Amino acid sequence: MNNIQVDIDNRIATITIDRPKKLNALNRETIEELGTAFADLEENEDVRVIVITGSGEKAFVAGADISEFADYDEMEGKKLAGRGQQELFDVVENCATPVIAAVNGFALGGGLELAMAAHFRVASDNARLGLPETSLGVIPGYGGTQRLPQLVGKGRAMEMIMTAGMIDANQALTYGLVNHVVAQEELLDFTYDLARKVIKNSPMAVAAAIDAVNAGYTDGTDGYQVEIDNFGSCFGTEEFVEGTTAFLEKRKAEF
Ligand code: COA
Repeated sequence: MNNIQVDIDNRIATITIDRPKKLNALNRETIEELGTAFADLEENEDVRVIVITGSGEKAFVAGADISEFADYDEMEGKKLAGRGQQELFDVVENCATPVIAAVNGFALGGGLELAMAAHFRVASDNARLGLPETSLGVIPGYGGTQRLPQLVGKGRAMEMIMTAGMIDANQALTYGLVNHVVAQEELLDFTYDLARKVIKNSPMAVAAAIDAVNAGYTDGTDGYQVEIDNFGSCFGTEEFVEGTTAFLEKRKAEF
């Protein structure tokens, strides 16, 4: 992998996007490497949470790599967005292993779209977030027009997209775009603390919950029905037996 680093420690995998000189901008190779890393980590039973972050103190990801698509035509543009969504952004959102974005600085364009594809987000106090694509004569292409309104509401999303402006970490917190804001030097430790809280719970149930929540945002899918189905499926698992037995025996469940 030329553009990302993957470290696994105590059942937490950390993917670090590592192109600091380009503010971790997502070129094609980085998107491919990320897609492969997420798919591999999802299959790895020793990994219970995936944290995605950027290298350096300045940027999470400053967007898709503008130098790569500046001379694209309509068909190439459409293919770029389609491939990216399929290879990475949808993979992250639908990953059965929980994904937390640790937003350590600029999260712009494709960077904010990547953070939004994660299951939830923590930001450092210097983070600045936005979808500046309309300033470049294009629109968000990696899910931004869909996931931003889901997270912050339609009016705020429209304003952010139309003004192409950035909001700071505290504004993002007020909007519900990030769940927590912490000092930069505490960002990873804070995120790992959250990861450890997730790891205490049944990985099967956590995956079933991700699937049910996402179903509610999928056209043509009845999220309530998926919830009923996934709820029922839990009853046929060893983790359900362990979770309920441990409660009744007044001990901590071991998942
Ligand atoms: N694509 C390609 N290269 C990028 C990039 C992107 N999205 N974002 C930053 N870079 C590169 C810069 O070109 C520069 O490279 P260089 O040193 O070879 O010239 C390097 O990263 C550092 O960026 P720079 O602009 O010098 O840093 P800054 O502190 O002055 O500004 C930003 C930071 C984030 C405000 C600015 O880089 C920016 O606006 N980036 C583009 C954001 C954007 O529009 N993203 C959406 C893309 S769809």
